[in-house]
Amino acid sequence: MCHRNLLGYFILPAMMAVVSIAACAPRQSIENKERLPPSVMKEALSYKSPFGEARTAQPEIVAAGKALYEGKGRCSFCHGISGQGDGPGASVQQEHPPRDFTNCAFQKEREDGELFWIMKYGSSGTGMQRLIPDTLSEEEGWKVVAYVRTFCAAQS
Ligand code: HEC
Repeated sequence: MCHRNLLGYFILPAMMAVVSIAACAPRQSIENKERLPPSVMKEALSYKSPFGEARTAQPEIVAAGKALYEGKGRCSFCHGISGQGDGPGASVQQEHPPRDFTNCAFQKEREDGELFWIMKYGSSGTGMQRLIPDTLSEEEGWKVVAYVRTFCAAQS
């Protein structure tokens, strides 16, 4: 009896708390996450979408971006169809998990050019490879950025 109580009321919840902290901490906040290297920020911010601001892109641009995200670009393999960073390839990247794109705080923090820069140069030391121009053209990249913006439903 005593053991069951201990397990039920203390040990199990404690273990679950530890597990959920470990699983969620890197995804939920972005405070501990550096932006791009300061030396490239100016370049990154100079990149502008040919379709105007990604958040206000036309529905057909967003639809094309979705097709590329889930298809040729293979973004969903790591970032997940849901955008939460839960794709099948995400579990092997514990140390640098793919960003949760549904986190509106993250979306607010990043300019379009910063997202584009990462796709162009990758994030060194992580699973995020450079994808432009090898996998996607620049124009396709901007379509994907427009789609990535839609993961935070509350924005714009
Ligand atoms: C092999 C796995 C993988 C694939 C495929 C992948 N990513 Fe990533 N991506 C990551 C990881 C891991 C990170 C986090 C890198 C870090 O911690 O610096 C990341 C980071 C990013 C970021 C930066 C987020 C931030 O913190 O500013 C963007 C934007 C991004 N990915 C977009 C894409 C897009 C768009 C595609 C498809 C065209 C894609 N990624 C494909 C693994 C992947």
